Amino acid sequence: MKYNNILSETSNGITTITINRPSKLNALNRETIQELHNAFDEANASSKTKVIIVTGSGEKAFVAGADISEFANFSVKEGAKLAAKGQELLFDFVANLSTPVIAAINGFALGGGLELAMAAHFRIASDNAKMGLPEVSLGVIPGYGGTQRLPQLVGKGGAMEMIMTAGMIDANQALQYGLVNHVTTSEDLLEFTEKIAGKIMKNSSVAIASAINAINANYEDGENGFKVEIEEFGNCFGTEDFKEGTQAFLQKRKANFPGK
Ligand code: COA
Repeated sequence: MKYNNILSETSNGITTITINRPSKLNALNRETIQELHNAFDEANASSKTKVIIVTGSGEKAFVAGADISEFANFSVKEGAKLAAKGQELLFDFVANLSTPVIAAINGFALGGGLELAMAAHFRIASDNAKMGLPEVSLGVIPGYGGTQRLPQLVGKGGAMEMIMTAGMIDANQALQYGLVNHVTTSEDLLEFTEKIAGKIMKNSSVAIASAINAINANYEDGENGFKVEIEEFGNCFGTEDFKEGTQAFLQKRKANFPGK
């Protein structure tokens, strides 16, 4: 597929999706959100993709937020629609993908940028990364899931402070908060992220998809995570991956998962 604002390339089981509007610090305009939806959807459906990495182009920004120039004149109705559409097309969509998504945060991750990183299944940051939800400094609140996912990741008090002050935290603070899992140098960020992707790829993609579903269930209204876990656990017993994984263990060899 041809894109104007992003790059998507797949090699060795990893699809790397790069937001590519460096002159606007990779801000998410409407077209970029639609393109990201298409790229994530395509990668998730492809048997060639085992892990998706999302990052920003250039050294300065992952994503500096939603594109402020697009919504500055919106009405109440248009504002609500912007948030609903964005959550559906990109943020909830990414969080619920069955393929693991890792955000490699290579600079500013602000507003919608941090919300995109938080929608990913986990995050790795370079040591120059800066993260924040500065929306209240513009007279608005985070609308792409930030008020929900930030407290899930850093706790209520930390999220309240970050959102109310509209401040930025650096990569090491984000590591302390549990917002990112690892911090690397800028040069090592992608290689390090790919190494973790490589570890994930050795395992059963079907079981990983079940695990994502069960973990996410804990954060969904009306879902009982323990019940979903029981169901998903049972489902695994009907998969070829389970047969291969258990047989390989008993035969003292490495599993070669068919991904079914
Ligand atoms: N939406 C639209 N354009 C944005 C943007 C955003 N969220 N963030 C940056 N840009 C644009 C700037 O307007 C500028 O464009 P121009 O060169 O055509 O004027 C370009 O990206 C470079 O940004 P600039 O502000 O000059 O870089 P800087 O290094 O001085 O500052 C930031 C970097 C991240 C601190 C600053 O860009 C910023 O505060 N951005 C907005 C962050 C934000 O509030 N995000 C939440 C949105 S809901």
